[in-house]
Amino acid sequence: MAGRKDEQYKLVIKQAESLLQGEHDLIANMSNLVSLIFHTIPGLNGATYYRFVKGELILGPFQGKSACMHIAVGKGVCGKVAETKHPEIVPDVKKFSGHIACDDASKSEIVIPVFQDSRFWGVLDLDSPDFNHFDQTDRLYLDKIAPLIF
Ligand code: SME
Repeated sequence: MAGRKDEQYKLVIKQAESLLQGEHDLIANMSNLVSLIFHTIPGLNGATYYRFVKGELILGPFQGKSACMHIAVGKGVCGKVAETKHPEIVPDVKKFSGHIACDDASKSEIVIPVFQDSRFWGVLDLDSPDFNHFDQTDRLYLDKIAPLIF
């Protein structure tokens, strides 16, 4: 399974590099990258960028159901990552105190901090309708994939 996931993420990286090549508009790049992730990596019901603007997270391009538009630092999984600047892998969102439910179908979640020139820029948040869907393989590849928008 980990091998298969490896292959899927490598495909996302390869396609992203060609899809985003020469484009510097962040909205265009975020839009195409979340679409690519959502349609290539199996078992997702959400893929969302949040930008860190004026001290809070604000919704960016996403795939999935409508999402919460403003998230304060420290609130939910995304807000915790904005606070700690460390990734969060949540095997069961119901057990994460303060989890913000955008889609009732979400059972597990991974949130990756995104940095631009070493400064915290925002987060990439993936949701799954399966428990315990995300692991260190996801973290490893999403760390590389999330900043391809720059
Ligand atoms: N579940 C997230 C909120 C964002 S949505 O899932 C897109 C959280 O707890 O931060």
